[in-house]
Amino acid sequence: MVVCHCELVNDRTIREIAVGDVVTVAQVTERCGAGGHCGGCHESIERLLDAAAAVRSASVDAITPVRVVARVAA
Ligand code: FES
Repeated sequence: MVVCHCELVNDRTIREIAVGDVVTVAQVTERCGAGGHCGGCHESIERLLDAAAAVRSASVDAITPVRVVARVAA
């Protein structure tokens, strides 16, 4: 699906960019040009960035061991 019609950038490209350390629309614009003209796609780009951040967060939660602290009765 085309997200940025000015630069003809699709959601797949933005998802691939958002896997790394890209977290803002300005960073997406630097990488692929999306969002650099009329701005009509900014909301869509932000939603894709939010989704990528949620996936990253869930991945970290999945590999972070849960620390269990046991209370010992005195
Ligand atoms: S639709 Fe993306 S800058 Fe215009």
